[in-house]
Amino acid sequence: MAYTDFMEKHIVLAPALLILFGTTGDLAAKKLFPALRSLHDGGDLPEKAAILGIGRRPWDDASYRARIAEAIAETSDEATAPDPAFLERFYYHRMDMRDTNAYDELRSRADALARARDLGDNRIYFLATAPDLFPVIAEHTGRTGQVGNGGFRRLMVEKPFGRDLASAQAFNEGLYRRFTENEIYRIDHYLGKEMLQNILVLRFANRLFEPVWNTEHIDHIQISVRESGGVDQRGGYYDHAGALRDMVQNHLLQLLALLAMEKPACFETECVRDEKVKVLRGLRLFHPDEKDPGIILGQYAAAGEQPGYREEKGVEPDSATETFAALRLEVDNPRWRGVPFYLKSGKALDRSAADIAVVFKPVPYGGNEPFEQPNVLLLRVQPQEGVNLQFNIKQPGTVSTVTQVDMDFCQTCRFPGQSPDAYVRLLRDAWVGDLNLFTRWDEIEAAWTLVDCIQAQRENVGIEPYARGSAGPDAASRLLTQDGRSWIEPEEKIPGTCEPCHT
Ligand code: BG6
Repeated sequence: MAYTDFMEKHIVLAPALLILFGTTGDLAAKKLFPALRSLHDGGDLPEKAAILGIGRRPWDDASYRARIAEAIAETSDEATAPDPAFLERFYYHRMDMRDTNAYDELRSRADALARARDLGDNRIYFLATAPDLFPVIAEHTGRTGQVGNGGFRRLMVEKPFGRDLASAQAFNEGLYRRFTENEIYRIDHYLGKEMLQNILVLRFANRLFEPVWNTEHIDHIQISVRESGGVDQRGGYYDHAGALRDMVQNHLLQLLALLAMEKPACFETECVRDEKVKVLRGLRLFHPDEKDPGIILGQYAAAGEQPGYREEKGVEPDSATETFAALRLEVDNPRWRGVPFYLKSGKALDRSAADIAVVFKPVPYGGNEPFEQPNVLLLRVQPQEGVNLQFNIKQPGTVSTVTQVDMDFCQTCRFPGQSPDAYVRLLRDAWVGDLNLFTRWDEIEAAWTLVDCIQAQRENVGIEPYARGSAGPDAASRLLTQDGRSWIEPEEKIPGTCEPCHT
């Protein structure tokens, strides 16, 4: 369902109580409070909607609301203070989430609050805690039956969903003891980003692209998610994760699945998920051999005053965790056989940007070699959103010199401020019960199967250091140059320099 469909179809969110575990953490402050505010300000949150924040800090409702106002002021561009009616939706419940007896008391508090605010029986649980708490929260919210008669209950789970296939399976079995698949909303926030939702429209709603989206016409595809920031305060978590678990297993593989999936029988949730899972199951390393498995791992080193990864708080001084990963994968099916998908993701790089480059096979102009520059379709995911198509024309004034030009659709310029933050979309979807942008268990399972297979090769791969603020390890460039290709990294448009848009 497209975002505007909510407006077009006048979908009204049902009354509900959102129980937010981990309300004192970073995710709540940076993403969830602003997203809820945006839903409130847009008139989307029903009057009968409240949020019960759960944390260990000794706060009460008043100090919690003050903290939310502060968090919003710190993260939001909007100068205005939140509407008092927004803050009055929030209540605080102090609780040790590891104390399994505390969940009965939570149930009483939630029920009392629901009665007082006439919220009915619907409950949404958002797990934004440290991952080791997920199983205990899911088990005991499920056990205490935190839902009244006739209401819905939905469990929104942040990543990481396990650290390998075995732990993900164990965790999922725990969830299934208390919740059904359709009650579990596994979050991959990249799916909430506008340009990811655009991939299927771009592919399947354009005759220009749909018939040529295959091995006959596409040379290779690049998926690049670069971050300029290091691990900051998250060293403790990250050192047990690394780029493969933190970014590749989820965000990059979901991007790949959307780019590679077959046209679904319908665009409803299960049809789309069915096609994505087929891609994920068909993924393998592309022509790996002992010398070149198609896996590059890197770790950032200090640059100037800026610390290297091993100097970061919470990171082991001899850590072998990768902060950069590049892969060469193939989807083993008739549509894609022979087309490499190059993926890369890393921290402490020269820029923050997520881009996809679909590089078409070059054609010989007039049937003669040399081949001309290939057409390239660039999908800009962030920070700038848009689509850019590179193609060949005759250089004006010459007899037949061919030169490459581009057509540029800058979504950020054309629809300024119209892309909601991913969490706005995801919270709203979960509230209306739309699972389309959440991952199904078999997708997670297939993604872990691939990542486990890559992890099994780490000893043969090694980790190459790269300077903080650089483009990443040299080996990542070699991964493509040895195949006669190179990374395509579009420049960011400087705000204010966009062409005027015709409306
Ligand atoms: C998260 C990772 O899932 O995604 C972080 O845990 C990463 O390490 C973040 O920084 C990137 O998200 P975005 O939306 O800023 O690209």
